[in-house]
Amino acid sequence: MYVCVCNSVTDRDILAAAENGARSLEDLSEELNVATCCGRCATCAKNLLNQSCQHAGTAACSGN
Ligand code: FES
Repeated sequence: MYVCVCNSVTDRDILAAAENGARSLEDLSEELNVATCCGRCATCAKNLLNQSCQHAGTAACSGN
């Protein structure tokens, strides 16, 4: 599903970015341009990132 409609970013894109080391909304913004337009996707993107981090068992995720 699309998380960021403005930049055509899907949940799979975000999970892939998390697997590649993204640990914050800032990382996602740099890599995928998430939340760089209207910002409505920020909360959903953060939730996905947190879920991914919990699933991976890493404590490095800031969720910001
Ligand atoms: S939906 Fe992501 S910036 Fe607008």
